[in-house]
Amino acid sequence: MKPIVLSGAQPTGQLTLGNYLGALQQWIAMQANHDCLFCVVDLHALTVRQDPVLFRERILDLAALYLACGIDPEQSVIFIQSHVPAHAELAWLLSTFTMMGELDRMTQFKDKARSHAHNVNAGLFTYPVLMAADILLYGTHKVPVGEDQKQHLELARDVATRFNGIHGPVLVVPEPLVTGGGAARIKDLQEPLKKMSKSAESDLAKVMILDEPDVILKKFKKAVTDSLGVVRNDEVNQPGVVNLLNIWRSAQGVSMEVALDHFSHNQYGKLKVETAEAVIALLEPVRTRFRQLRSEQTELEGVLARGGELAMERAEAMMKRVLTVLGLPLNPRRFSSDKVHS
Ligand code: TRP
Repeated sequence: MKPIVLSGAQPTGQLTLGNYLGALQQWIAMQANHDCLFCVVDLHALTVRQDPVLFRERILDLAALYLACGIDPEQSVIFIQSHVPAHAELAWLLSTFTMMGELDRMTQFKDKARSHAHNVNAGLFTYPVLMAADILLYGTHKVPVGEDQKQHLELARDVATRFNGIHGPVLVVPEPLVTGGGAARIKDLQEPLKKMSKSAESDLAKVMILDEPDVILKKFKKAVTDSLGVVRNDEVNQPGVVNLLNIWRSAQGVSMEVALDHFSHNQYGKLKVETAEAVIALLEPVRTRFRQLRSEQTELEGVLARGGELAMERAEAMMKRVLTVLGLPLNPRRFSSDKVHS
């Protein structure tokens, strides 16, 4: 039995090169020796107002991007969160095991309450409970997440532990697997002390996975460096240069030594152009596959329908156990014996 892995991203905005090198590449690599589920968390995205027409497109875009990056539906379960009603159902049940004070401590809630002051809805507050449900529904062992989601994962662990303490060992307490460390820590091209974020205001700050080659080249040419004029691995004094070195070597899959060897006698111009070229070479096939997948919407929907079925079957098995230990009568139509869920 391979360890179960689940992760997800919200279908809001495009993903960046930082997401690709920091998270998606790790997801792809894990598929071979883990039982992976990858989810488009559309229900989470509703905590911010969405235009329904655009929203539907963005959900399919993100699913297509997962596939274009290399998530293989033959190996992993790729699905849309809202296709599996048990996510919302388990979130309700778990909310009765989650304390107001715990949610009140979540730094992401505090940040979002500030940045979305006009729409501090209850869903924004209970967001981490839905995330806990996503994870606990599948008996997940490991959850690849960025540093910013570690607190939410801690909460999922606490809720699972509390539930098990009262009702017995039903839920698996998941381990975080923090992604985006080391060389994959890709920084903002304009303010290289900050991490590259899809929500950065300036377009020049971030390279998107689906950017056209000329756009990528322009962004790297305008990347902020320094006036020292030497290529060194000096993060304190040359964060912009180190970021370019890191991007080049991550795109090539080589070490910092190799990167320094390659660039140390060169001007920043060559570093910028060659980093752009490496990134273009890395992303070009992803963009091509994305276009292809997106032009065959019926097939894409078919892949997601199948993923949704696989996820639902597994989720229903967990729901049966959870409902049972809570003392809730099972709906015979839902859990009839001729269905595979057990
Ligand atoms: N909250 C996560 C984010 O914003 C997305 C997410 C939702 C998630 N459910 C999850 C990530 C379950 C991992 C596992 O990045």
